[in-house]
Amino acid sequence: MSIAAMTTDLSVLSFEQIQEKLSQRMYSAQKNYLAMYSTWWGGIVTDPTLMFVPIDDHLVHRGDGVFEAIKVVQGKAFLLQEHLERLQMSAAKIHIDLPMPIEEMKDIILKTTEVAGSENAMLRLYISRGPGGFTTNPYECVGSQMYLVVTTLNTLSEEKYLRGVKIGRSAIQPKDPWFATVKTCNYLPNVLMKKESVDRKLDFTIGIGSDGFITESSTENIVLVDKDNSLVRPYLRQILKGTTMIRTFELAQELVVRDLLTSVQERDLTEQDLVTAREVMMIGTTLDVLPVTEFEGQVIGRGQQGPVAKALLDLLRHDMKQGPKATPVKLNI
Ligand SMILES: Cc1ncc(COP(=O)(O)O)c(C=O)c1O
Repeated sequence: MSIAAMTTDLSVLSFEQIQEKLSQRMYSAQKNYLAMYSTWWGGIVTDPTLMFVPIDDHLVHRGDGVFEAIKVVQGKAFLLQEHLERLQMSAAKIHIDLPMPIEEMKDIILKTTEVAGSENAMLRLYISRGPGGFTTNPYECVGSQMYLVVTTLNTLSEEKYLRGVKIGRSAIQPKDPWFATVKTCNYLPNVLMKKESVDRKLDFTIGIGSDGFITESSTENIVLVDKDNSLVRPYLRQILKGTTMIRTFELAQELVVRDLLTSVQERDLTEQDLVTAREVMMIGTTLDVLPVTEFEGQVIGRGQQGPVAKALLDLLRHDMKQGPKATPVKLNI
């Protein structure tokens, strides 16, 4: 078939026709999209059909940008400062100048969340290289942009926290240390890890480096309680420095005082450490502290939420609701 014949039904659309078509293109996920801010417009929209970015933004065609996912719980943006500092560090590492100072960014985040009008929400904040042409050359961009989307917060069932989750070994090569420690929008390995876990009917898969050491999951860190009752996380060498993991480890000091733990440490962890651990946990913004009770079919600990996972979850959730590290959001609801 000639190109001319194939394209006879296609017409050049007007702005109004596009608006009309967009309004017919609603899909179920959009009901969770509450508000979006974009520096490209310098304002906020609440209509999900308007939540898009320019296709020539290098974020779209090269993954050239950095991002953060931040949780708002009972009107407080948890670890906002820590997320913004990590964003700033990631942007600096790939030589993107932030489009505005952090304090201004905070004002926009709080205002957009207020417009979204939900006490509990997820914020996804992207800093892009910016619109330009379509090459890899970052110097063709007109300037970095900020896109912020506020969505409803999806939480796991309480049963998952009691029974724990099943994980497996990922077949995807972990990112090299440089990429693993920068939160860029190049998340293809993470996407493939998520896909393999869904395909294998597992809750998560975890990376194993060429040195045999455990790295992390698609978008969460993994930690354990060893047989000496120490809470251990991997070195921050080939993993993202998770804001939730860092905060949880600060809070865990209290469990040492309460004699529930003997110490809190950082060291290289192997698969053997996993299967001989008393408890294993996934930690991240969406999950908080989620017990892992099976690795590649082998039961971990008692096969249910352990005392440390429970205590850490309680401490973290308490911290989220009233801790000094949560930034209040003024809500108009
Ligand atoms: C690769 C990766 N590891 C770990 C985490 C957990 O980090 P945080 O606790 O800051 O959400 C994330 C989530 O952002 C991630 O993308």
